[in-house]
Amino acid sequence: MFDLSKFSLKGKVAVVTGGGRGIGQAIAFGFAKSGAKVVVTSRKAQDLEATVTEIKTFGGEAFPLPAHLGKMDEIQKMVNTVMDRFGRIDILVNNAGASPAMGSVLESDERLWDTIMNLNLKGVYFVSQAVARIMKKQGGGKIINIASIDGFNPEPGVSVYSVSKAGVRMITRAFASELAPMNIQVNTIAPGPISTKMMNSHWAHLAPEEAEKAKAALEKMLPTGRIGQPDEIVGAALYLASEASNYTTGTEIVIDGGILLQGLK
Ligand SMILES: NC(=O)c1ccc[n+]([C@@H]2O[C@H](COP(=O)([O-])OP(=O)(O)OC[C@H]3O[C@@H](n4cnc5c(N)ncnc54)[C@H](OP(=O)(O)O)[C@@H]3O)[C@@H](O)[C@H]2O)c1
Repeated sequence: MFDLSKFSLKGKVAVVTGGGRGIGQAIAFGFAKSGAKVVVTSRKAQDLEATVTEIKTFGGEAFPLPAHLGKMDEIQKMVNTVMDRFGRIDILVNNAGASPAMGSVLESDERLWDTIMNLNLKGVYFVSQAVARIMKKQGGGKIINIASIDGFNPEPGVSVYSVSKAGVRMITRAFASELAPMNIQVNTIAPGPISTKMMNSHWAHLAPEEAEKAKAALEKMLPTGRIGQPDEIVGAALYLASEASNYTTGTEIVIDGGILLQGLK
């Protein structure tokens, strides 16, 4: 009979990138509530400290670790620090992501490309590589990559981001196929519109009234009729981080309010 304790993360060490706000913070809260020791890492120490303080209020264990995850030296330093402190890494969530500007394919420049690719692709690949080497020695682990529905259908104005998220889906498949024999499961969560700073930045350049209209138009396009909340990603992350998913690898969970059903953006 299925044992519900397989969903527990008790005693596991988890690293959640971009854990200081938005989806990453929600996942960090969920993991800590499930018993994991959670390392949250991103650039802004203040956001990380606030997340850790919140986790401690409900008796969880967490550790803030500032790092720029688009830089190779900072990636290795981050992983080394986690190992010095905890001695193992059982779960990695590659959640940190950037979508800093909108612009047509005719306008996107090299700087935008490098900013997005350095974090969304190079960062995800090499954080995964550094952690997977540790997981191999440990005899197993879980890697969860946060992609996007934009990695399925390109969103007009965010082509570089869309390309990066399609790449994240392939990072999952490439790592999953090589690491499966080492008992390391690698999977993707692909969110649709979720109410976070990144989502809201889509409308930041608009006047408040126009922003409301744009938001209402998006909600109308969503079969569920509303934009999702960061908490709505947590259940899937808990499943993919836990022993309940030991036979699940190289696959994708889309959490998008049904928007891909209609091929809509
Ligand atoms: N919200 C959505 O609708 C949506 C939809 C699909 C996919 N996603 C994906 O979900 C993930 C989380 O996004 P979100 O919506 O929660 O966005 P968010 O609120 O903007 O959070 C992004 C996180 O990434 C961190 N980050 C950014 N640049 C970084 C860098 N160079 N090094 C380390 N950390 C960095 C940020 O922290 P610092 O600024 O402190 O570094 C922040 O914690 C992203 O991968 C995003 O692409 C979001």
